[in-house]
Amino acid sequence: MKPKKTTTPARVVKSTIVVSISLATIAVVATIVTTSLKGQSPVKDPRQERFTPRGEVANEGPARIFLKSGNTAVADPSDGTEAPTGFDNLTNGFIPQGPPFESINEENVVPPRSMNDSRFVFEEVETVADGLGPTYNAQSCRECHQNVVTGGASQVAEHRTGHRFRQEFFEAPGGSLIQSRATNPEIVERVAEEDNLKTFRISTNTLGDGFVECIANSTLIAIRDGQPENMRGTALRVPVLEGDGSPRIGRFGWKSQHASLLSFAADAYLNEMGITNPLFPEENTSGGVFVGYGTQYDPVRDPEDHDSQDIHTFARFIRATKAPSRGPITNDVIAGEEHFNAVGCAICHVSSMMTVSPGSVINGGVFIVPNALGNKIIHPFSDFLLHNIGTGDGIPFLPRPEFENTARQIKTAPLWALRTRNRLMHDGLSSTKEEAIQRHTTQAADVKRRFNALTRSERDQIMAFLDSL
Ligand code: HEC
Ligand code: HEC
Repeated sequence: MKPKKTTTPARVVKSTIVVSISLATIAVVATIVTTSLKGQSPVKDPRQERFTPRGEVANEGPARIFLKSGNTAVADPSDGTEAPTGFDNLTNGFIPQGPPFESINEENVVPPRSMNDSRFVFEEVETVADGLGPTYNAQSCRECHQNVVTGGASQVAEHRTGHRFRQEFFEAPGGSLIQSRATNPEIVERVAEEDNLKTFRISTNTLGDGFVECIANSTLIAIRDGQPENMRGTALRVPVLEGDGSPRIGRFGWKSQHASLLSFAADAYLNEMGITNPLFPEENTSGGVFVGYGTQYDPVRDPEDHDSQDIHTFARFIRATKAPSRGPITNDVIAGEEHFNAVGCAICHVSSMMTVSPGSVINGGVFIVPNALGNKIIHPFSDFLLHNIGTGDGIPFLPRPEFENTARQIKTAPLWALRTRNRLMHDGLSSTKEEAIQRHTTQAADVKRRFNALTRSERDQIMAFLDSL
């Protein structure tokens, strides 16, 4: 959005903060207070503190999945209706469609008013005067979330690095995310030679995520508890940042690192675009060196989205999107889904679940589920849990020993909108569905064995089913 006036004077950011978030100190862990190697007084690592949930996971209502008998968590599909679907830029009813999209411009946009206004802001290209950078990955949310309409996925991949030392993971200085661009050639981040752990993470779909946000914690936990022990997923407790750190079960991002769309949008605004906001007020470094306001590289005071208007608008846009639609349902597609269920793919790629009822309070008390998002049945083909299927990228949710398991885990990729993607898996390095399936091992080894034991024509039917998603 346009440059904003800040009313409060800029905070003085001391470079000691940067020094103290050096590689070795992050290892001090189990406590959020880290001490600099160079002997400065202890300071808190704001990122680690921010991601520490406070309190218990809230009861947001009963589990709403449609498992077969024998499981207590059986919902009645007649309590809900199918969520609207489509790749059409149209609202799901959460907010009005608004004036014609083509009529909206920087001068007349009214961000909270409508889907079209919110989409305009989601698509807007930010400049240095808006707070872009100093280090960043792209200039607009749409640059990475656009296929086949705004909010979808894309081929753009992020780069993360770090290294292992004595069984512990150490992030690249300033964080494992390597921003690929900068506003000045002096400060483009470079990867340290010692960083022997590298991964790409491809941009994910956000269409329909408003429904995913309204899935109760208990639903995800019931799915986990219903999984056989050797395939059981991990339900990560993550803080809702706008809900005072209140924990929910994570569901967004390749590591299920967020549970709320406002928290994710705030994280993305800083980490993808370099725009600080009240939920992420500290500017990113360049390889650990402070380059924010007060240096020659950053003319805009923090938080750059000072009134949170942009991050709220991004969340509103995503909440208003329809879920991905299906392609034609042929006889092969129907047969393929039966084989998909029979061999056990659906144990992780869960086909159906229902959102909480309208009026339910989620996200640590700050979001009341509206009619447009409540009692909706969705088909994400994911359990939103973390699994070790042998593809883990080596980077934990946070660089702390208690999250060590998450280094080897990845969220079950939701298969909705699969037909819009041709670079598969978290790293985008599988070009075909067959390649992606053959990379499944460990927790998915038995299922893959059963898949490989099917006849050629049965496997082709599964492929037809996948192509319909
Ligand atoms: C440079 C590319 C890029 C830009 C720009 C970008 N994103 Fe993303 N987005 C990604 C990637 C990559 C992921 C997966 C990241 C991960 O899990 O580590 C992602 C994931 C997400 C998700 C989670 C979706 C899910 O269901 O898992 C949301 C929500 C999201 N982005 C919102 C935004 C918003 C809002 C903006 C603009 C402020 C934005 N993104 C800008 C690349 C980008
Ligand atoms: C134990 C849980 C589990 C089982 C069982 C499982 N998957 Fe997956 N699946 C995952 C996870 C986790 C990922 C993401 C892995 C990654 O990105 O590294 C994934 C990714 C995929 C992808 C790539 C999707 C994308 O958008 O990139 C496809 C396709 C897929 N699975 C199909 C299947 C099929 C078909 C089966 C049954 C033969 C199956 N899966 C069984 C957990 C599972």
